[in-house]
Amino acid sequence: MSKQILVTGGTGYIGSHTVVELQNSGFDVVIVDDLSNSQIEVLDNIEKITGIRPAFEKFDLSDSVLTDQFFNKYTNIEAIIHFAAFKAVGESVQKPLEYYRNNINSLLNLLTGMKKYGVKHMVFSSSCTVYGQPDKLPVTEATPRKEAESPYGNTKAICEDIMRDFCKTNEDLNCIALRYFNPIGAHESGLIGEFPVGVPNNLVPFITQTAAGLREELSIFGDDYDTPDGTAIRDYINVVDLAKAHVVAINRLIEDKKKSNYEFFNVGTGEGYSVMQLVKAFIEVTGVDLKYKIVGRRGGDIEKIWADTTYGNTELGWKSEKTLEETLASAWKWEKNVRGLN
Ligand code: NAD
Ligand code: WQD
Repeated sequence: MSKQILVTGGTGYIGSHTVVELQNSGFDVVIVDDLSNSQIEVLDNIEKITGIRPAFEKFDLSDSVLTDQFFNKYTNIEAIIHFAAFKAVGESVQKPLEYYRNNINSLLNLLTGMKKYGVKHMVFSSSCTVYGQPDKLPVTEATPRKEAESPYGNTKAICEDIMRDFCKTNEDLNCIALRYFNPIGAHESGLIGEFPVGVPNNLVPFITQTAAGLREELSIFGDDYDTPDGTAIRDYINVVDLAKAHVVAINRLIEDKKKSNYEFFNVGTGEGYSVMQLVKAFIEVTGVDLKYKIVGRRGGDIEKIWADTTYGNTELGWKSEKTLEETLASAWKWEKNVRGLN
């Protein structure tokens, strides 16, 4: 029986793309998701893309009994990719306990399962949010973390620390934290993508929903930042490129290429784009006459951040491939498919 990769949150946005890349690379996948922020139909679309329907278990990973029962049943897990978490920054300020309970307990239950059932490897979804507004750009892995601006961001910093400490005393177990910059775009098939509930907080889903006629106009939050055009700068990483970084990280662990049993890497493109540059690129690529206006800054936003990808490129051996234009075109293809426009 071949070894399995457990993908938590595997019906979610980044998880579903990663399941596709894992299956395309020959891995046998089992997904755990409680469907709190995703739809079961994602499995049909993963199957359409890869020809394989991944095993699926629906339960809440913050429940220690259910998580233990899972490991008892699935005895062939070699590695975990842990995506399952709540991720809305604003909501986390309103509901801090829900965020700490879900994000921290899920990790604790999985690490407990690793130790008890001999699962050797974990790749964890961290975020560039741990850097806050860095003093120096671009950010390398040596850039110090800053105090988190939200409970959500704090869960990522706490989870990183938990894994570091866990790995210190469990020398045969290994964790890699991947610090994602801003994931955007969708699978080239248009069959899977980001499906936000309600009004999107993130830039690209708001743009594509505006282009599709669901929203009246995009508000650009601030044009008085210290950047060339005054709008904020981010490092937008294509979700399929990001998914491939997980396959590389899993292979690094399985093939024992790691330098230590707790590692972390930036996953970005190394290029910063302003909100205005991104909006203009979207209009150029899609030909859609996107309505937008400039409004005041959004509270809690940082001015600019982008990754130094040197360490990831050389040590992890991964590099982003897709251009911003290709990525925006994929996001638009997905939105049109979802809305039945074509
Ligand atoms: P998503 O919400 O689309 O996917 C997360 C999935 O986890 C969902 O399907 C949800 O139903 C599931 N889930 C949540 N809590 C669960 C629980 N207790 N038990 C079982 N399933 C649970 O989010 P995403 O954008 O795919 O993000 C995946 C991971 O990457 C998250 O950890 C997120 O914090 C992190 N991340 C995301 C971004 C981003 O901008 N999307 C950036 C940096 C880091
Ligand atoms: C990007 C830029 C906005 C919407 C968030 C989390 C971060 C990480 C990724 C998980 C900003 C501007 C946005 C809009 C706009 N997630 N904007 N109008 O804030 O960089 O990062 O998602 O770890 O932790 O904080 O992403 O897509 O919300 O915003 O002008 O309607 O677009 O102000 O400058 P952000 P975003």
